[in-house]
Amino acid sequence: MFNFQEANSRLGTNSTKWDRYQKRWQLDDVIPLWVADMDFQCPEEVTERIIQRARHGIFGYTDAGSECLEAVVDWEKRHHQVTLRQEDIVFTTGVVYALYTAVEMLTRPDEKVLVQPPVYPPFFNTPLSLNRTVVYNPLLLDGQPRMNLEELVQLLKEDPSIRVMIFCNPHNPIGKSWTKEELTALLEILERYDLTLLSDEIHADLVFPPHQHVSMLAVDERFNQRIIQLGAPTKTFNLAGLKISYALIPNEALRTEFARRAKASGLSSINIFGYEALTAAYQHGDAWLEACLQAIQDNLHWLKDFLDRELPLCRFDLPESTYLAWVDFSAYHVPDNFQEILKFEGGVELQDGRGFKNSNGYHRINVACPQATLKKGMQRVVDTMRKKGWLK
Ligand SMILES: Cc1ncc(COP(=O)(O)O)c(C=O)c1O
Repeated sequence: MFNFQEANSRLGTNSTKWDRYQKRWQLDDVIPLWVADMDFQCPEEVTERIIQRARHGIFGYTDAGSECLEAVVDWEKRHHQVTLRQEDIVFTTGVVYALYTAVEMLTRPDEKVLVQPPVYPPFFNTPLSLNRTVVYNPLLLDGQPRMNLEELVQLLKEDPSIRVMIFCNPHNPIGKSWTKEELTALLEILERYDLTLLSDEIHADLVFPPHQHVSMLAVDERFNQRIIQLGAPTKTFNLAGLKISYALIPNEALRTEFARRAKASGLSSINIFGYEALTAAYQHGDAWLEACLQAIQDNLHWLKDFLDRELPLCRFDLPESTYLAWVDFSAYHVPDNFQEILKFEGGVELQDGRGFKNSNGYHRINVACPQATLKKGMQRVVDTMRKKGWLK
């Protein structure tokens, strides 16, 4: 019914992932396993709805409309047990822009933002670009990944100017799907020290059974007034170029101020096709998503077997969520410019983990592509390592 194995070429579409090699470096044949979008076509209903809307031929300013709002309310209820009112939703043109606006709104320049690396780089780069100080509370990655809550308490106790935490739920890049117990323990600490939590849940729909996504807003209602939860259909349905996301803000004062700022900066002025795509995806995308998750899991299992066989010194645990594999190559003593060598000499690009902080030797591999593409890319990694003499 759905075909996730067809190699749909994205070359010549100005794809960030595929087209930069020829444009920037005149390289003809690089397999990109880095940036987090998928090489799969989105659900047909989404494409059809966009075409139908395009045929109207008038593309003036457009509002969300109740069908779109209801699609979000319904999706969050059915998939994540979050109970929302339509008025809790503020549409935004991207999660990163929303983080920017929220950090600016919630902190004065002398106040600080806490993040838990390794983590999606805009979590620290966005506050830094606003001249906010970032405080790091690294995850513990020896054995089962977990938060270092003891250190967190210590940091908050010592520094009352830490006002906001940005949290990745589930987690990019380590693929952890946080449990209700873990989130409750975190929220209790944030409550004690009176922090506001920005919970980025853009990967929420990409959790593999038996794990289940737990939304911050579904942990315990008593915490909800201090949470801004950010979501989107863009990772789930491969719609990143359509720039549509939303902030869920039960706290009325926070929501009013966030919406005011979003309007003033144009952040809430959504592209007409973003609304259409979100609505169609949330109304009709369940079966597509289920099949997509299966294809991703098949690729992750293939990658695990491949690494165990070909690169047994790599450390890689199957993620509980996301299409991103977080692989530690350090036992092979690859050089600092490993990623560059793979790209320019090996014809494959991985994402260097150092950009996520606290991650020397780690590389992130995006497996959301037909399995043949992943196989070809990973074989190039091994071939390059062999050619360079890094495999004994
Ligand atoms: C955790 C996380 N948040 C946000 C984004 C990007 O969101 P947007 O394109 O809506 O700004 C990504 C993309 O990789 C991500 O992994």
